[in-house]
Amino acid sequence: MKTEFAPSLLSADFSQLKEELKSVKDSDYLHFDVMDGVYVPNITFGPALIKALRPHSDLPFDTHLMITKPERYIEEFAEAGSDILTVHLEATEHVHRAIQMIKDLGIKAGCSLNPATPLEGLKYLLPDLDQVLIMSVNPGFGGQKYIPQITEKIKSLAKIIKENNYDCKIEVDGGIKTHNLKKIVDAGADIIVAGSAIFGQKDPAAALAEMRRIAEN
Ligand code: DX5
Ligand code: ZN
Repeated sequence: MKTEFAPSLLSADFSQLKEELKSVKDSDYLHFDVMDGVYVPNITFGPALIKALRPHSDLPFDTHLMITKPERYIEEFAEAGSDILTVHLEATEHVHRAIQMIKDLGIKAGCSLNPATPLEGLKYLLPDLDQVLIMSVNPGFGGQKYIPQITEKIKSLAKIIKENNYDCKIEVDGGIKTHNLKKIVDAGADIIVAGSAIFGQKDPAAALAEMRRIAEN
């Protein structure tokens, strides 16, 4: 399967997001990192920003909710125009309920795991998930270093999905650059999130094209 890319707007210039969106119009998704200052030590934006940008892109909006008790806001983020909503396994006591809520709204559901969280917690969720978002840095900030042992975690998850024939993609998020991309794709990543490696570059369109070239070779 062709590797897909989800540039994260976290590293984009927030004063000109409309233009930044256009620079990655050849990507497969747009990744929105929502942070509440409680679940993670940083605050970004909420559904109003997603709603404001929705008319300016045809790409699917992939919204990563790094917020505590995400079920409180699922409906708002779906209404704002998210095509995929991902919640953290660690952020609620009722993660299956949160996933069910997302699916009942007719959009795709993802579950994310922090680097220290083992895959075991996904066991009874996988049949209902459209994607698993494996964090390869501790969530909260762009521009961090990829945690090397996550490659093994991706491989183990890919094996579980394959053996059970689940219809679930693996998205990997954090510290992905041209130098480690191939290894992550070979481990089993279907969707690559990249913030600083794309929007931190002078020419984001060229940076995305270069990452695609590397993933496909
Ligand atoms: C981190 C976010 C990531 C982040 C990735 O909490 O979930 O999406 O923006 O940024 P880079 O690619 O710079 O590590
Ligand atoms: Zn993210």
